[in-house]
Amino acid sequence: MSLLIKNGTIVTAVDEFVGDIFIENGKIAAVGENLPQHADEVVDASGKYVLPGGVDQHVHYSFDYKGERVRGFETSNAAIVGGTTTVIEFVNQEQGKGMAETIEKYDREEFSKLAMVDYSFHGVVCDPSDELFAEIPTLPSKGISTIKLFMAYKGLPFHSDDEAVFKALMAAKDAGVTVMVHAENADVIDYLQKEYLRKGETGPYSHALSRPPLVEVEATQRAIYLAAMADAPIYIVHVTAKGAMEAIRNAHNEGLPVYGETCTHYLVLDKEALAKPNFEGAKYVCSPALRTEEHRESLWQAINHGWLNAVSSDHCGFNWEKQKHMGKDDFTNIPNGSPGVQDRLAILWTYGVNRGKISRQRLVDLFATTPAKINGLDHRKGHIGVGYDADIVLYDPKPTSIISNKNSLHGVDFNIYEGMVQEGKVDKVFLRGKLMVDNGEFIGKMGDGEFIPANAFGLCYQERKEKQAVGV
Ligand code: URP
Ligand code: ZN
Ligand code: ZN
Ligand code: ZN
Repeated sequence: MSLLIKNGTIVTAVDEFVGDIFIENGKIAAVGENLPQHADEVVDASGKYVLPGGVDQHVHYSFDYKGERVRGFETSNAAIVGGTTTVIEFVNQEQGKGMAETIEKYDREEFSKLAMVDYSFHGVVCDPSDELFAEIPTLPSKGISTIKLFMAYKGLPFHSDDEAVFKALMAAKDAGVTVMVHAENADVIDYLQKEYLRKGETGPYSHALSRPPLVEVEATQRAIYLAAMADAPIYIVHVTAKGAMEAIRNAHNEGLPVYGETCTHYLVLDKEALAKPNFEGAKYVCSPALRTEEHRESLWQAINHGWLNAVSSDHCGFNWEKQKHMGKDDFTNIPNGSPGVQDRLAILWTYGVNRGKISRQRLVDLFATTPAKINGLDHRKGHIGVGYDADIVLYDPKPTSIISNKNSLHGVDFNIYEGMVQEGKVDKVFLRGKLMVDNGEFIGKMGDGEFIPANAFGLCYQERKEKQAVGV
């Protein structure tokens, strides 16, 4: 089966040109201008931008917050209609069980059956036992090459202290496993949360007040020091505060292998959304909290200059009516996290590219190419080039619409971008050469997505490898 996508404007992280893509057996076989190939099927992409399918390295389809579970992988079609063809899920290690064992069970029982997008996994350290630290170096042999620790969320089963973070860094580094952290000071947040509750300030806005930027800045800096002491690379997820971004940038400039991402909502939404009346503010309860214009501007600068390396969605499909309302009388019980996997590309396009904040090449790099490299998936994903999986998005820049939950496949009852203008739309998406989205509509089926094993020694190890190669 062969396919020719003709006359589109092909965008990569470093290039843009009008050309054709020839696809055979799900792989890109040729890219160029006026390719002479004949194909079983020809798609005319004139007037469209042709992008590599997105890699969203920060999604939650199995997350549980105080007994409330997010919508699962049966809603993964939302990712692909939004132009994301690979997602990487955080799986919390079950107490007393191995990491690989927990992940393999999830995959067998849920993901492999429901997948409408390709996927890979990060293991979340929840039971920091000696057995777990001994297991970490073996994970790449199972296709798991990234682990995460939550420095935040004191008292919840997935919280990790500094000892666990340090031990994980030590266990991971020689095996090329990338350690990721959610960096916020759990003790200070815990204290502030109790204070706001004691004062009777129980609503969603207290979520932001109890997580000021400095709790993130401090923990980010601490994580960087822990990594430096362990002589290991580190990746900071969902960076929101200017000071945290600067800590990462400064460490990187000093030669430390420190990397980080931000998320779509931190680029365009304001902390004041949490003050919306009638408990609407709960829709925007995610951690770290939404910030102000000053922080957003610094994040746009950071992604433009490469001081932060990726933009993820931190997709978390909690319902407002049924689940966010758990915290009606106590903001600390509002499940943390908001949906957004479907909107990542359109938001970056509209508020990034079309507002002059990033180029189309930067968009592709942040949306697909670098996330694939960070997570050891760049042998197949994140780029339009010969030999890569034919994961391809045709983006039509012309239509303008208003984002509405009515058009969302997230499977929940709200959208945090509701009412915002969207410029352009995802027209077609191919997953390994198979048409999954046509004219913006999902036409694939459950089970079309597959597990992609992740290689060890992802991007965060690159500078270390280069230094070793030249004997520094
Ligand atoms: O609020 C958030 N981000 N929820 C998901 C879990 C996490 O902290 O990443
Ligand atoms: Zn987090
Ligand atoms: Zn560097
Ligand atoms: Zn998250």
